[in-house]
Amino acid sequence: MRKNLKLGLFGYGTVGQGLYDVLQKTPGIQAEIKRICIKDPEKKRTLPASYFTLHAADLLNDPEINVVVELIDDAEAAYDLVTAAMRKGKAVVTANKKMVAEHLEELYRLQQIYGVPLLYEGAVCASIPILRNLEEYYDNDLLTAVEGIFNGSTNYILTKVFDEGVSFDDALQQAQENGFAETDPSLDLEGWDPKYKLSIILAHAFGVFVPPDQIFHSGIEKLSDFDVKIAKEKGCKIKLVANCKKIGDTVYGWVMPQFVKPDSDLFRVNNEYNAVILEGAFSERQFMVGKGAGGYPTGSAVLSDISALTYDYRYEYKKLNQESRVESSNSGMLEVYVRYSKNNTIEFALFESIAEKFESAETGYVVGRIALAEIRKLCAGQPEINIVQVGPLEGLNSLDKLELAAEYT
Ligand code: HSE
Repeated sequence: MRKNLKLGLFGYGTVGQGLYDVLQKTPGIQAEIKRICIKDPEKKRTLPASYFTLHAADLLNDPEINVVVELIDDAEAAYDLVTAAMRKGKAVVTANKKMVAEHLEELYRLQQIYGVPLLYEGAVCASIPILRNLEEYYDNDLLTAVEGIFNGSTNYILTKVFDEGVSFDDALQQAQENGFAETDPSLDLEGWDPKYKLSIILAHAFGVFVPPDQIFHSGIEKLSDFDVKIAKEKGCKIKLVANCKKIGDTVYGWVMPQFVKPDSDLFRVNNEYNAVILEGAFSERQFMVGKGAGGYPTGSAVLSDISALTYDYRYEYKKLNQESRVESSNSGMLEVYVRYSKNNTIEFALFESIAEKFESAETGYVVGRIALAEIRKLCAGQPEINIVQVGPLEGLNSLDKLELAAEYT
């Protein structure tokens, strides 16, 4: 039998209001918002004042509230609220990717200890039901790769820059006005946000808890007109792509801008849309696409989690038994484009091979094969370098892999 849910909502920003609206417009859902905890009492609200409180305890200590929905911005405060709710035996739904990614192993254990579900579909690619799919449909060990566009704001900016000739700064402002960007937009631009989402996907796709700080990322904040010109000359767009791949029993993960050719599924994924490409040994390639940011797309994913709780759904993390090893980012060879200015000193010796090289008085670039670990060295202390992935990842030879994997096992 379906349960009746009384919700305690933390946060009433873009996603909170989106959830309220989709909940009102969804007949048949057996859930209602009882109380909403907010930070700013001065803000004008569209709902009666009786809904709102400034005190978390009013929700956490209310025995009638059986589900806490956490939709605030601050990841630290979100962690405190979510763990307090779980300890009190309340089910939790959250869309806070940073908080989930940084504490996932502990949150997994708390679910076991307190016997409560924690669902977070809205934290990853908003309207694309990727986590539920990874849990239920791909619940075997035949998945080999998950990659895609996991950040709506940067995809919106790149679309405007590449397809409409809008300036980077104007495109960022539009993404902010549309409510796609984080309060601190450097989380989007520098690739942190898609990295948090990748860290969560790694647990559900391959059964490994990899804290975000172990995953290599670079973003689009250093993208220049020169890079856009080179991409167009190559007939490509640039997209910010999150990747994870399993080679043998070793899992790799990284986030990097990528040259995307017209024959790629990602080429036509525009604006705030996200996309996920799954590769399985027998199912081969599958492609999911949907809005990845904004109040309604994220609100709809949160609603779907709430609905799932009415029939006692919980993640089972079945793939934790696969015993995969994590290379997160320290090995694996990639072909990359590295653009630098005359102020940079590039250690060309870090490349295994170089296919293309250009230098003018102001700017230079090189395209070559390099290990992910060496990319970190190449970038260290050189803020003007921009990196774009050109070719797919290949594993190192098996002996190197074993030695490097030891760091993480
Ligand atoms: N800032 C995020 C994005 C919001 O642009 O994708 C959705 O997680």
